[in-house]
Amino acid sequence: MQLKSLVAILPFFLAVAATPVQQATCSNGRTTANAQCCVWFDVLDDIQENLFDGGECGEEVHESLRLTFHDAIGFSELLKLQGKFGGGGADGSIMHFSDIETAFPANNGVDDIVDAQRPFAIKHQVSFGDFIQFAGAVGVSNCPGAPRLEFLAGRSNVTKPSPPDLVPEPQDSVVKILARMADATFSPNELVALLASHSVAAQDHVDPIIHGSPFDSTPGLFDTQFYIETLLQGDVIPGPDGLQVGEVQSPLQGELRLQSDGALARHPITACEWQSFVNDQSRMATKFRAAMSKMAILGQKRSALIDCSDVIPVPKPNAKTPSLPAGKTMHDIEKSCLIKPFPTLSADPGPETSVNPVPPS
Ligand code: HEM
Ligand SMILES: *[C@@H]1O[C@H](CO)[C@@H](O)[C@H](O)[C@H]1NC(C)=O
Repeated sequence: MQLKSLVAILPFFLAVAATPVQQATCSNGRTTANAQCCVWFDVLDDIQENLFDGGECGEEVHESLRLTFHDAIGFSELLKLQGKFGGGGADGSIMHFSDIETAFPANNGVDDIVDAQRPFAIKHQVSFGDFIQFAGAVGVSNCPGAPRLEFLAGRSNVTKPSPPDLVPEPQDSVVKILARMADATFSPNELVALLASHSVAAQDHVDPIIHGSPFDSTPGLFDTQFYIETLLQGDVIPGPDGLQVGEVQSPLQGELRLQSDGALARHPITACEWQSFVNDQSRMATKFRAAMSKMAILGQKRSALIDCSDVIPVPKPNAKTPSLPAGKTMHDIEKSCLIKPFPTLSADPGPETSVNPVPPS
């Protein structure tokens, strides 16, 4: 063959090499790398429409994201070392054995989302463990600024109830929380990254009178405001009934600060990682994605699962610049990382306002 004709067919070989192997076509012409992932497009359509109110970053999304943690964190290396059942991790046990697990005090309120999700998992014949992690990944993709999370499918539908006392509570000390997370194989930095989830979060059960009060001023955006606002001096008691167990003073009317978030933001072990996210959306999203990939398969074997990540929608970017809420100045920041300067942030214009609750749907 002449050199000239070789050169002529070279682009053809390159094009073939660049095409992923075994692309499968699923419903509505959508494609995925693995035919076994097709079912997840049908689950996607169903939950976006009928669980997440047409693709919002609202209450069900927040609760679904929380559920990924409360299922997965039922995992203990220590119990295993003691020869006991250490929990199955991200195994769906919280849905299989919801009568047992949602009665754990730290799982207060998760029964609502477990009951809302279960019929979808049964209808589509996917395992409860897979469904919980899928719903979290799809849900957070509705929040502008979120990373596109990894989603691996194939968790068994057979498991045992989690042992009690493995889910951290907001009134726990930093040392207790870090020890619990370490027992579940997470470093302090990984916990700080996972807490980006509290950027799209509100509470209903810490202080029930102020139902829906968010942890930052932008609960519909996966942004860095949570890391900024938890470092502001707390001078507000948001509820009419005073501070509750696990709650500390917040910087804004309508916003609730968990004791654990306030303490982790200020603790020497976690303060610098916390500060590193304050004005770095891409660092926050990247570290959150990595930690979520690990959390989603706690207790599972990665090699036994199928990668269906290409079913997860690509989230919209977050257009908001990190800022101080209106009425705040840099003097209100309780700088806790001693070895790095705090980035300069400007305040939103106008007088100090209050934060609206996340509406129930
Ligand atoms: C130190 C560990 C943690 C503690 C003490 C903690 C505690 C809490 C508490 C008390 C609430 C309010 C629940 C309610 O009253 O309705 C909450 C909400 C939430 N948590 Fe955490 N959390 C922790 C870690 C995590 C992690 C790792 C995730 C990651 C997925 C997560 C995701 C969420 C979300 C998304 C919500 C909002 C739920 C909603 O708006 O309905 N949390 N958390
Ligand atoms: C998973 O187990 C539940 C019972 O806990 C059952 O209702 C559901 O149909 C099972 N799903 C699959 C895919 O086997």
